[in-house]
Amino acid sequence: MYFFPVMITSDALQGIPTYLPKYQPALAVFTCQTHKSSCYRLSKRFIPGSTSTEQWRHYIAMALNMNTMRNSNSKMMRSSRTCVVVRSVAAVERGTVNVQRNENFAKLRAGYLFPEIARRRRAHQDANPDAKVISLGIGDTTEPLPQYIADAMAKAAAGMANREGYSGYGAEQGQGSLREALANTFYPNLRVPDEIFVSDGSKCDIARIQMMFGAKATVAVQDPSYPVYVDTSVMMGMTGEYNNAGFDNIVYMECKPENNFFPDLSKMPRTDIIFFCSPNNPTGAAATRAQLTELVNFAKKNGSILVFDAAYALYITNPDCPRSIFEIPGAEEVAIETCSFSKYAGFTGVRLGWTVVPKALKYADGTPVWNDWNRMMTTCFNGASNIVQAGGLACLQPEGYKEMISLIEFYKENATILLAAFKEMGFKVYGGNDAPYVWVGFPGKASWDVFAEILQKCDIVTTPGSGFGPAGEGFVRASAFGSRENILEAVRRFKVAFGK
Ligand SMILES: Cc1ncc(COP(=O)(O)O)c(C=O)c1O
Repeated sequence: MYFFPVMITSDALQGIPTYLPKYQPALAVFTCQTHKSSCYRLSKRFIPGSTSTEQWRHYIAMALNMNTMRNSNSKMMRSSRTCVVVRSVAAVERGTVNVQRNENFAKLRAGYLFPEIARRRRAHQDANPDAKVISLGIGDTTEPLPQYIADAMAKAAAGMANREGYSGYGAEQGQGSLREALANTFYPNLRVPDEIFVSDGSKCDIARIQMMFGAKATVAVQDPSYPVYVDTSVMMGMTGEYNNAGFDNIVYMECKPENNFFPDLSKMPRTDIIFFCSPNNPTGAAATRAQLTELVNFAKKNGSILVFDAAYALYITNPDCPRSIFEIPGAEEVAIETCSFSKYAGFTGVRLGWTVVPKALKYADGTPVWNDWNRMMTTCFNGASNIVQAGGLACLQPEGYKEMISLIEFYKENATILLAAFKEMGFKVYGGNDAPYVWVGFPGKASWDVFAEILQKCDIVTTPGSGFGPAGEGFVRASAFGSRENILEAVRRFKVAFGK
């Protein structure tokens, strides 16, 4: 009776219970995929009072038939036996514009990991108003800014109110003094200031890096890894659809305890870009000099570009683990490095980072990648805040540097406390030595279930490992960013709930 066998994806179904009861009667808009993505409107008469998946299938098929009848030349008609996959269903209170949604956004999973965690935390707090929830989840810093660094920014801000101290647009690449200080502090004899681009943070740089490479580039990521590499690849259109294990056209380089959290590169296909983070978020594993040498050689052999994320490099204690990819000879011909003051100096809300693009790194046609990155930063960015750059410069002066290191030491002590507690409780636990994250194994359990169990029993927010990639299933990440009081209280609650 209906032309269209309709499949409704689970993501699509999420829209139904959320929106419909609230907005009825309303229009429902859904996108479906035949040969290409399309957007159709379900008129009011197709919206049932209460809905089940079966009813939705029925109504959607009916609406599609009507549409086909109205336009007998439509592609839908010609492909009338094609199964329709409905990607999203949402009701809208008022009208909708006649603009098709960027189909790449429809591919993304339900929500970015951390907003989803925040949503569940709010729901838990609403249901348990007296609970004193402790967050070891998102990985946001908690301790106040070090005084010398805060003072430098306060002074720069006050200076903006007089003619001598005022400054407007600066160089998009960052202030010369800061670029020089970054080169001297983190890349002595390795990189020059001209190759260092100051920015509003690493996450923004990662998105701009993707924009620079364009939709045709192929991508590999560590699995598990910081979700931004994958999600920006999806947004850019570098990937296919989500299959239950991950996105098509992304190479997931499995990093598990079994391989010491370093991928078996002999089994990895070539990709244009390789995202690699050390120390890794979320596993806390820092790669050794030998491993990074292998990685650089792999990129060289394949003619790939390595995007090395060093956001936690200063947390490394192990002398065998380099703090910059440029410590590996030859890396300047294959690697870009991105880094940030966020987890060094509590700048998560202040916003300051940098990306290093060596002039020796060249595309297949011989163009230095530096040229395109410079163009990207001068076109899509207008320079980091002058006030904040004064803070960055203060971080690299002796007094500020000392303060920054003691802040890192504080969080590292938190990590040591968490690591010891999980070990004592008998868990298989990783990371924590060279990173502010501990990676706790719950073999055989789904990580969202473990997340829910911990939230329920302990009023503690963690991060489910599966949110970082398929290989994160069975783990949760606990962040060491917290006050000492909260970390000790979290440990106490964990021991009550999970201690043997
Ligand atoms: C691995 C990694 N890279 C980059 C970032 C983002 O840093 P920023 O605050 O500079 O955007 C984070 C933040 O959590 C991260 O974990």
